[in-house]
Amino acid sequence: MKRGDPAPDQARLPLAEAILRYVERMPARFHTPGHKGRAGTGPLGWWLDRAAELDLTEVPGLDDLHAPTGAIRDAQALAAALWGADATWFSVNGSTGGLQALFWAAAGPADTVLLPRLAHRSAIGGLLVSGARPRYYPITLDQLGLPLPAAPEQVAAALAHCPVRAVLVTSPTYHGRVADVAALASLAHRHGAALIADEAHGAHFGFHPAYPGSSLASGADAAVQSPHKTLAAWTQAAWVHVKGGRLDPERVSVALDWLQTTSPSYLLLASLDLARWQMAREGPDPWGRLAERAQALAAALAGQPGIGVAGDRDPVAAPRDPARLVLDVEGLGVTGWAVADALQSRGVVAETADFRTVVLLLGPWDPPDWDRQLLAAVAAVAAAPPAGPRPPDGWLELARAVAAEWGEQVLPPAEALRRPRRQVALSRAAGHVAAEAISPYPPGTPVTVPGERIRPEAVAYLDLVAEGGGRVQGARDPTLETVQVLA
Ligand SMILES: Cc1ncc(COP(=O)(O)O)c(C=O)c1O
Repeated sequence: MKRGDPAPDQARLPLAEAILRYVERMPARFHTPGHKGRAGTGPLGWWLDRAAELDLTEVPGLDDLHAPTGAIRDAQALAAALWGADATWFSVNGSTGGLQALFWAAAGPADTVLLPRLAHRSAIGGLLVSGARPRYYPITLDQLGLPLPAAPEQVAAALAHCPVRAVLVTSPTYHGRVADVAALASLAHRHGAALIADEAHGAHFGFHPAYPGSSLASGADAAVQSPHKTLAAWTQAAWVHVKGGRLDPERVSVALDWLQTTSPSYLLLASLDLARWQMAREGPDPWGRLAERAQALAAALAGQPGIGVAGDRDPVAAPRDPARLVLDVEGLGVTGWAVADALQSRGVVAETADFRTVVLLLGPWDPPDWDRQLLAAVAAVAAAPPAGPRPPDGWLELARAVAAEWGEQVLPPAEALRRPRRQVALSRAAGHVAAEAISPYPPGTPVTVPGERIRPEAVAYLDLVAEGGGRVQGARDPTLETVQVLA
């Protein structure tokens, strides 16, 4: 609270009531968390119902996340066995905390890490924690403006220029595309670097042949996964896997020990145990049924006027997550954000949207009536599209420009964050050195990185996102009229 603000009314419950209002509207949830608020009907029900009673700490018998010798050690070992890792750690700070720990374990202030332009902002957090310098490889956007996964040629070209300790790959991407992890792993290894996979959206991979295999199975040295996104773990719960000898498990353990709270929530930790148990117990069948359901749903959605489903017309069937449907709404003449708002007013909440697409996250535990609700809502929006806005001219070119090129890295992000800063109008920010990592959110991939010279394309792109109705994170000024730069 700022000095001079009116005294707040302490009888209010702004957050708790906002959550209750959302739940009471009973929307069809095509978004994370993966349990979709319905774990109560599945094997996790008793857990949800008794949450307060089960919220415990390091009392006798419950082990210690920071020195596990009992139940937590066993639960982590079971997860490692099911996901094919040599070692797995539980994270109560999502894949975000996991990536930070892996970066710290892989590289120090004298090192460089190779990462995709448009990496999730948690990778930038990894640079802050490790002090390492970033080097980027470009990301190509497809005709819908969606990032394609890392191309081995682009990674090879970047690796040819300077030695790096680790290479990061985002696979699957936020939109469900999968990289050739095997090719990337052998490239990284030939250059003496570890391959770290940001598999936040792929905890369900490798369990059923309709889905891509896991990145660990393809040769990655480490992976983070957010089972809260696609499995039934609770929001914030994630795991960190390591395999092979390129990343020292001892260092990963030390990093997680320092970076995680000393009061980890046992509800989160146990939800990881339960999510693993559910996958082992239910086996691949629910995922096979989900892939079939997704295919039928995609065909029905693509039959609506003005609506396409990404991937339907791919010349080569690129590996992708079948549980993620990306609607191409260009034919409706308005932005994906406008369509997502229109769907929301009809009781259907999408995972995310952008200038041209709307992303729907399907889960094996969704009730059947949600698909009917979705189809009815999409049909209504297709028949009477919202009035606007239209995607602004030039958005795709700008999006491509920020994915493929970047400004000079004047200072490592960790150093830039400590420097004095000042606020300038966004319109005048080009040429200054960024003090903030500003990302459209979702997907949370920074367009400016601390310590990097801001390019005019980045300014123009952020301007279009803000005008188009997208949210951004990382800017002190949420209106984006101004941004922080180094003084
Ligand atoms: C690609 C990617 N990586 C990492 C993360 C961070 O995951 P978490 O929310 O579990 O910290 C996200 C979150 O949205 C993500 O989309």
